[in-house]
Amino acid sequence: MGEVVYPVPTGWDQAALVDAQAYEAMYQRSIEAPEAFWNDAAHRLDWIRPFTRVKETSFHEPDFGIAWFADGTLNLTANALDRHLERNGDRVAILWEPDDPSEPHREITYNELHADVCRFANLLKARGIGRGDRVTIYLPMVPEAAVAMLACARIGAIHSIVFAGFSPDALAGRIIDCDSRIVVTADEGLRGGKRVPLKANVDDALRQCPGVETVVVLRRTGALVGAVDGRDIDWHEGVALQSSDCDIEEMNAEDPLFILYTSGSTGKPKGVLHTTGGYAVWASITHQYVFDYHPGQIYWCAADIGWVTGHSYVVYGPLINGATTVMFEGVPNFPDPSRFWQVVDKFGVEIFYGAPTALRALMREGDDWVRRTNRKSLRLLGSVGEPINPEAWEWYYRVVGEERCPIVDTWWQTETGGIMITPLPGATDLKPGSASRPFFGVKPALVDNDGKEVMGAGEGCLVMTDSWPGQMRTVWGDHDRFFQTYFSTFEGMYFTGDGCRRDADGYYWITGRIDDVINVSGHRMGTAEIESALVAHSKVAESAVVGMPHDIKGQGIYAFVTTNVEVTPDEALRKELIQWVRQEIGPIATPDVIQFAPALPKTRSGKIMRRILRKIGENDVTNLGDTSTLADPSVVDNLLANRRQLT
Ligand code: PRX
Repeated sequence: MGEVVYPVPTGWDQAALVDAQAYEAMYQRSIEAPEAFWNDAAHRLDWIRPFTRVKETSFHEPDFGIAWFADGTLNLTANALDRHLERNGDRVAILWEPDDPSEPHREITYNELHADVCRFANLLKARGIGRGDRVTIYLPMVPEAAVAMLACARIGAIHSIVFAGFSPDALAGRIIDCDSRIVVTADEGLRGGKRVPLKANVDDALRQCPGVETVVVLRRTGALVGAVDGRDIDWHEGVALQSSDCDIEEMNAEDPLFILYTSGSTGKPKGVLHTTGGYAVWASITHQYVFDYHPGQIYWCAADIGWVTGHSYVVYGPLINGATTVMFEGVPNFPDPSRFWQVVDKFGVEIFYGAPTALRALMREGDDWVRRTNRKSLRLLGSVGEPINPEAWEWYYRVVGEERCPIVDTWWQTETGGIMITPLPGATDLKPGSASRPFFGVKPALVDNDGKEVMGAGEGCLVMTDSWPGQMRTVWGDHDRFFQTYFSTFEGMYFTGDGCRRDADGYYWITGRIDDVINVSGHRMGTAEIESALVAHSKVAESAVVGMPHDIKGQGIYAFVTTNVEVTPDEALRKELIQWVRQEIGPIATPDVIQFAPALPKTRSGKIMRRILRKIGENDVTNLGDTSTLADPSVVDNLLANRRQLT
């Protein structure tokens, strides 16, 4: 069968910001003259002191380092809020849709958001928080989450958002790592009609964090939660005393903006650090061009602010561009599988950006849930977080978008700050399953395992050969780990961890992670984290975790567990371990399969041969490759005999 290609829809090339010709020209300039290109592009922001230096970056030792616009100063909230007030202060900045559709939605104008941010910034200051201090935010999808982020940016504090689905332990680890003295949370979160005990989780976590002096608690459900005298303050009572004026802090372009923890192939999650100027340029320029955003349009990114997509495309990108950004507290299938499209109709959403895992789950419920809604307002659809399989792509295109809306399949990472490989709707012919072409300034390359570049059509490890403004600058507290993780595998290149194919048209097709990172429902997890949670259980001796194909989640979690000798593994223990991992990390890490194994396949030097386990996880066991170096090959026979048969 020939490859399916969907040309740029009629009218799109005319109306869009960039057509095919303009893309080629702009891309070429961004690569050949990056200084000039980014000098111009950065003027989309308001600078306090204009920069004179643009790009000072090297991926090579000994002068390794990444700095953009380094002598410029600015404030991010001034760019996201203040500069819109004079002409567009009454425009809605945030359209908030609650979990329960019978509860009223909220519309917060730029003027109102500005006042809320100033009050909260003043509250932070009153609690002794200022420039450079870390603020941990553990909030559900409520407008106050954006308020807290922007308040930090206003006073130069560094926010560290922890996804509200993470466990107390995971939260504590992240508070301790960046040494926050303050946590912002809510009494409870609401998702799909279920309550999440956020304040109780914080109380639990803080037993391990003596350094935390302040907990701000937003009342969301009104649940009775305990308060620690002198430490806990009620959000609304706290801000009621504060002025709605708050001076901006003049920040250097390279001052930190936020830390966001993400999983790698080894060790604990690392604090990805993004700085101010380059990140703001990247989030806003990608938001404008990739979504072909025109002022006044209603835009909805359905990601949670606990992930980088929420940072860049619910809050910073759209607000810097003066957009109306929809924020949704709930889940796609509550109260029923029409919910996304009902919200689209309710607000007249024109641009919708979501994750393949949600689309696959909705697709399974049948087309009728979609068709009973109108969706005529939609003009563009986006996908993010994991590969979108062509079947889900086609469904999104035909059923949701009625063949009218281009789909932008955007590839990027927490580390990249914003979108890197993507179609531009007026410029790029679409191939279902391909993230297509690099954005301006992005220089992808494919290399083989020896670091030799693969030219033309071919397959290899995806690397970036040069810096872009939105790139992360370091791992919080461990600059050496930053270099080792991303720049030591292939000399002088940023290694993404992804495998990729490039076709004869220069389109990129991401094939998935090639390290020990798995992507479960678009949530990134290190297999090592799940393993260490399992071995922390008193009955577990050893564990190895791999990904397995999963129809809805993309990947599921397959855990091999060796129990202590005196333990007889049974169904009860299996349930106990599943519960245990949920508690240790959070429900997103729930194992799909636990296979008890008397032993794991190891080389004579004691290294687990993960390759074999991955094959079993993938149910691809006809060719396990070379097993001659195994210390005890019979271990594999046992694993095969007891493996979970996947359908
Ligand atoms: O494997 C890639 C996959 O998600 C990883 C990054 O995960 P995270 O840092 O959590 O950021 C997710 C939101 C950007 C990548 O290394 N990934 C992300 N987008 C795509 C994707 N894989 C294929 N296609 C995509 N569009």
